[in-house]
Amino acid sequence: MRLLAEVDLGRDMLELGPGPGAATEVLRARVGRLTALELDAGAARKLEARFAGGNVTVLVGDCANPDLPNESFDSIGSFTMLHHLPTPELQRTVLVEAFRVLKPGGVFLGSDSIASNELHQFHADDTYNPVGPSWLLIQLLTIGFRPVSLTVADELTFAAYKPRLDARRQDQA
Ligand SMILES: C[S@@+](CC[C@H](N)C(=O)[O-])C[C@H]1O[C@@H](n2cnc3c(N)ncnc32)[C@H](O)[C@@H]1O
Repeated sequence: MRLLAEVDLGRDMLELGPGPGAATEVLRARVGRLTALELDAGAARKLEARFAGGNVTVLVGDCANPDLPNESFDSIGSFTMLHHLPTPELQRTVLVEAFRVLKPGGVFLGSDSIASNELHQFHADDTYNPVGPSWLLIQLLTIGFRPVSLTVADELTFAAYKPRLDARRQDQA
């Protein structure tokens, strides 16, 4: 993904909702340590087996309520995961939690699909709550991310930075 090539992911990365691990495979080569947080225990077990012995740690948990310390990751990735959250409130909570666990200066980046009739039909039997680009931009900005870049093409991609502390103090002055 072009977005990934343009961003410094740092040493410690958190991936939200890794599923079968397509993005995990790419991300683990770009960072020193990758923590993958997956809600589905069965999927997490498979992922753990797939990446055993490497730099990937798989945790079972909810990215809307992660049991992770403040400011502990250099980067956070969310790839085709946000639309699995059943409500906009929970989606916003995930963004708020990402801001909390990200180190100042760190980047939260990801992608999601653009809403379409085909995708609604594809997800007929599971949660499909597509994220609108303008909604996502407003949420990221109001939570405090700066700068934020967002691209709408075949899919929606975004990169949102948590300001360093000195930049936040200057904003408030
Ligand atoms: C479409 S898959 C993600 C695919 C993967 N990111 C990739 O790049 O191939 C979405 C994943 O998000 C997980 N998920 C959904 N809600 C979640 C939550 N609240 N916390 C953590 N993972 C969640 C689902 O169990 C599923 O494995």
